[in-house]
Amino acid sequence: MKIITKPVGMRTALLKERMAGHTIGFVPTLGYLHEGHESLIAKARKENDIVVVSAFVNPKQFRTKAYQVYPRDLARDKAICERLKVNYVFAPENKDMHPDGYDTEVSVKELTGRLEGSKIRWHYKAVATVVAKLFNIVGPDRAYFGKKDPHQLAIIKRMTADLNFPVKIVPVTTKRAKDGVALSSRNALLTKEERKAAVVIPNAIKEIARLIKKGGVTRTRLVRNLESLLVKEPIAKVDFIAVVDADTLREEDFKGKTLIYVAVYIGDKRLTDNVVV
Ligand code: PAJ
Repeated sequence: MKIITKPVGMRTALLKERMAGHTIGFVPTLGYLHEGHESLIAKARKENDIVVVSAFVNPKQFRTKAYQVYPRDLARDKAICERLKVNYVFAPENKDMHPDGYDTEVSVKELTGRLEGSKIRWHYKAVATVVAKLFNIVGPDRAYFGKKDPHQLAIIKRMTADLNFPVKIVPVTTKRAKDGVALSSRNALLTKEERKAAVVIPNAIKEIARLIKKGGVTRTRLVRNLESLLVKEPIAKVDFIAVVDADTLREEDFKGKTLIYVAVYIGDKRLTDNVVV
């Protein structure tokens, strides 16, 4: 396994792989890998000759404080990648990705404003931009993204199609703990009591999914039910919930595939989860 820090170095190494006829699978991450990331890497390992994992905490997609406290442990990430038989870890510094004079942004315009996007357009622009840069640096055949972040996934799919990136976007099922709670770097910040309380989230989503499958319940009613299931847990505070069309992320299109999405504060930690029915 090779660790590469410079974009040019990454491009040169992968050019050689491509010339040798090798297919390239790419897993972009912010580093501090957990089992959710591992399931993306394992899928990439199965489907490609070469696997590239990037670990880059992109400052442009964070508020300053959140950027400073984001957990980092490259040594641990390297060990995990080694175990999963990754071929290249791309771990650039910010100055490599955003040298002096950097001035370009990619904006997936309308789709970004859906769900909670209207409040954090800057965040999704920064994500689309860095993923576009990473696609140009790595040039993968396939890139793996978690269904854990459905809005991010939808934006990346749109950008890839609109900008003609020759990359197949592969969505990967959310990896969950035994009790159903979706794995996330943030779970490490929960107290024991909070971690126990967090199970209300997957349970509520599961119940709403069941009602949708049964049929005959209006969207408004589903949203109300979802909220009342979540507030049964005293330390849970609902921040945002949505029951929308899974492709367009719009309420108006609610008919076929449905996305149930929630953002809930457990104590002061904001957790998100979702399922598509
Ligand atoms: P990060 O939060 O590190 O997540 C990297 C990838 O892992 C994303 O595609 C995310 O959806 C996926 N993931 C996270 N938790 C998961 C879980 N429990 N099960 C399955 N997949 C999971 O998302 C980002 O980084 C960044 O925004 C990035 C795309 C790298 C751009 O900077």
